Amino acid sequence: MRKKIVAGNWKMNKNLQEGIELAKELNTMLSADKPNCDVVICTPFIHLASVAPLLDSQLIGLGAENCADKASGAYTGEVSAEMVKSTGAQYVILGHSERRAYYHETNEILKEKINLALANGLKVIFCIGEVLEEREAGKQNEVVKAQLEGSLFDLTGDEFSNIILAYEPVWAIGTGKTATSDQAEEMHAFIRGVIAEKFGKDAAENVSILYGGSCKPSNAKELFAKPDVDGGLIGGAALKAADFKGIIDAWK
Ligand code: 13P
Repeated sequence: MRKKIVAGNWKMNKNLQEGIELAKELNTMLSADKPNCDVVICTPFIHLASVAPLLDSQLIGLGAENCADKASGAYTGEVSAEMVKSTGAQYVILGHSERRAYYHETNEILKEKINLALANGLKVIFCIGEVLEEREAGKQNEVVKAQLEGSLFDLTGDEFSNIILAYEPVWAIGTGKTATSDQAEEMHAFIRGVIAEKFGKDAAENVSILYGGSCKPSNAKELFAKPDVDGGLIGGAALKAADFKGIIDAWK
């Protein structure tokens, strides 16, 4: 049975003190009322080492939002997968549309990052999704398939078992315009089919595919009710403990 997951992506929000407060609040809330799914928070790099000891790792996993495409060395300002792992984090988000669009991360670069993350024992939350013009042109399947092929198709089946997928239609991110649950289901089923073709039926059945893009407490239940939607990758609504908890509770 594949895992149900609600993961938060804090993006570039919260200073260290604010991040610590949010992590503590969430840990207290979920200790009092246990989640029915895996919960992960992905924070800016600078929070990781401080937040890791505050979380009950049985209840909340911790991840970074990115890592370098090089193992170590003279890459000023970069943070390696090994460094992320050494903080106590277990996950890393890679391929987020904001990284693809603003920092020019290509499928090739992402392939390097994924390899390094997996080699260092991190689980990868790999994001894919089309922009509005691509959807309007009916090209969303083709775009998403190319993203999967370009970054994941050289992995072994074993390596692939440490990948979580997140479908995030770019037009739904931070816009308040959520994909309908039918649009999400249609794409998730397509993604599962692509994975089945490449890695086999079991791998496709076992991979968790999260939906991301304006997911909130009010729409999470309907999205998560779809058979191929295994949870969410949450931006804005992950910045308030009560909202994030509201989405986690959609699994109850
Ligand atoms: P929002 O939930 O703010 O739309 O962001 C989604 C996202 O990009 C998560 O990675």
